[in-house]
Amino acid sequence: MSLKGKTAFITGAGRAGKGIGRSIAVLLAQQGANIAIADFVKEAAEAVAGEARALGVEALALQGSVTSSEDVVRMTSEVQQKFEKIDILVNNAGIVRDQLLVRMSDEDWHAVLETNLTGAFLCTREVAKVMIRQREGRIVNMASVMGVVGNAGQANYSASKGGLIALTKTTAKELGRRGINVNAVAPGFIQTVMTEEMPEDARAKVSGQIPLDRLGTPEDVARVVLFLVGELSSYVTGQVINVDGGLVM
Ligand code: NAI
Repeated sequence: MSLKGKTAFITGAGRAGKGIGRSIAVLLAQQGANIAIADFVKEAAEAVAGEARALGVEALALQGSVTSSEDVVRMTSEVQQKFEKIDILVNNAGIVRDQLLVRMSDEDWHAVLETNLTGAFLCTREVAKVMIRQREGRIVNMASVMGVVGNAGQANYSASKGGLIALTKTTAKELGRRGINVNAVAPGFIQTVMTEEMPEDARAKVSGQIPLDRLGTPEDVARVVLFLVGELSSYVTGQVINVDGGLVM
């Protein structure tokens, strides 16, 4: 178990069953990491924490929004109180509010930027203080290939994920000397609630463009996160790894 004794703080991991965050929590727990899960709904976070505990590790469910500095400060302090350290941060919480640019409301623009980009900034700022004191840490940001290539109907989402990629690189440059590696994962189309909400014809069209000829699974993404938080990637920082079956290359 490569992560035995480590503490991983994963945001947006309360989607039991299908979420990418939940898959990351379960895979890291299988590798021996203690897990802290943050999500809007305490019961949802608690369900995934229960799955982690069943694997023999300690787990903490936290209720809060990554968009609130107060919540982020409180949740970070709760993780520290329980586990005394934070080795891994996965900024996974994210939302979509798709609409063509000319019809997009101010509210939908701001909501997506606040969650996907500001939320990652707030969590990184707080947890980095802990990691700097420890002189080590791993941060993984959940971007998207849409943040690399853009996507019609997703001005807010692709801008937030593009911003997150830039935040990843800047954080990697600032924190490298402190022993902290910072990378991003950019999934393509992954089978989750987020993509289930897409119209069937749009899903079929997208699938046809994927060289590996299938949508990804949350586990496909979680395995790359495992690589980025473990010893095998100790000389990797500031990178964006696409997990998209070859959709973008
Ligand atoms: P999901 O919607 O199943 O899970 C996201 C979780 O984040 C939910 O449990 C939600 O309650 C939580 N969340 C949302 N806003 C929050 C906030 N302000 N504070 C705390 N928790 C919050 O989404 P999914 O599909 O598992 O995606 C996870 C991440 O992966 C997101 O960042 C998403 O943008 C990214 N991604 C997903 C892709 C896909 O195809 N599903 C493709 C590319 C990236």
